Amino acid sequence: MQMRDLFEKIYKDKGPLGKWAEQAEGYFVFPKLDGEISNRMSFQGKEVITWSINDYLGLANHPEVRKVDAEAGAQYGSAYPMGARMMSGHTSLHEQLQKELAAFVHKEATYLLNFGYQGIVSAIDALVAKDDVIVYDVDAHACIIDGVRLHIGQRFTYKHNDLESIEKNLMRAERVATKTGGGILLISEGVFGMRGEQGRLKEIVALKKKYNFRLFVDDAHGFGTLGKTGAGAGEEQGIQDDIDVYFATFAKSMASTGAFIAADQEIINYLKYNLRSQMFAKSLQMQLVVGALKRLDMIRTMPELREKLWENVRALQGGLRDRGFDIGTTQSCVTPVYLKGSIPEAMALVKDLRENYSIFCSIVVYPVIPKGLILLRLIPTASHTLEDVQITLDAFSSIRERLENGTYKRLSAAIMAAVD
Ligand SMILES: Cc1ncc(COP(=O)(O)O)c(C=O)c1O
Repeated sequence: MQMRDLFEKIYKDKGPLGKWAEQAEGYFVFPKLDGEISNRMSFQGKEVITWSINDYLGLANHPEVRKVDAEAGAQYGSAYPMGARMMSGHTSLHEQLQKELAAFVHKEATYLLNFGYQGIVSAIDALVAKDDVIVYDVDAHACIIDGVRLHIGQRFTYKHNDLESIEKNLMRAERVATKTGGGILLISEGVFGMRGEQGRLKEIVALKKKYNFRLFVDDAHGFGTLGKTGAGAGEEQGIQDDIDVYFATFAKSMASTGAFIAADQEIINYLKYNLRSQMFAKSLQMQLVVGALKRLDMIRTMPELREKLWENVRALQGGLRDRGFDIGTTQSCVTPVYLKGSIPEAMALVKDLRENYSIFCSIVVYPVIPKGLILLRLIPTASHTLEDVQITLDAFSSIRERLENGTYKRLSAAIMAAVD
């Protein structure tokens, strides 16, 4: 067979999302939101209500947080500490944050990660050997999928949050593991970030009585938002102790960068020496460590932030449901609104929302969700007001009317030509 230039396929096919770049970039994707992170920001010079930022507790621009971040920046700069944790990047404050996080999520120990994404990829890689089997949700976040890709042993996906399918795949996994002599790692999310459903953690934990497996939970969206103290989906469902490996990022309710993994001390001790993304990468920057200590303290001591968040969630989700919108089966702050339409129609609709109603929300289309569906994803935060919610509900009623009477179908041709 004749060889070809490596880039040939890229020149020919930009991929399912990339093919829209010319029409979408700068507006629908890679938009620039200016101003301080809050309920109102500026998009292309105009104030919009922002529903697209995972700043759940409104900490991103909280004056106390900003002060601590600025002071830590002045004290440590952005270089400190230099080197990987193992070599020269370890400090007492990293240890203190790990201890405080462990206490907060009710686990013996935690280990800090520079980024959640790489951390999860590495953690999955470190936890399984070739004889082991991974069982995971088909709708898993990209970082879980990439972690599983590194696994050279067997893996099985189960239908999204489907208990029958979970059990069937655990049986398959047990058959394999009995042959290889390995173990089973089941991976679920605490909250699925697109649809907002919680993972069926309670039911999965109950299956531990029948099957021999360890449970890994990515609780990026549950940490800080769910549970009596904000400790996440495990606390909310009353099974935190039965999660063997718990993960959360600082990128959502903590409004920062970094992440952590929590488990029994012995497991964390093992990960400390085997997590390649931490062994061979620079330690979490000190400003982020100090900032995370402050944020964690606020999550612990200011339940009013979570209460305000949930007041907004209830108002938004209740209002959408009352108006007959399909918001699926969300059980978290993530608020999906499902509409029927093509990608160009979705673009026209979002443009209308932004230009005429000053509402900025994310739009999700095929291949992330099935063809013919449009998902508008709204993220309420503690910094939103009930007035923001009301304006948004009214806007949604109008756009639905226009979607149904074909306005966006007609507009979509013009949009395709006009948007650059
Ligand atoms: C479910 C889930 N897991 C992991 C991550 C990755 O975390 P990070 O942004 O810290 O890399 C994200 C996104 O931020 C996420 O939504």
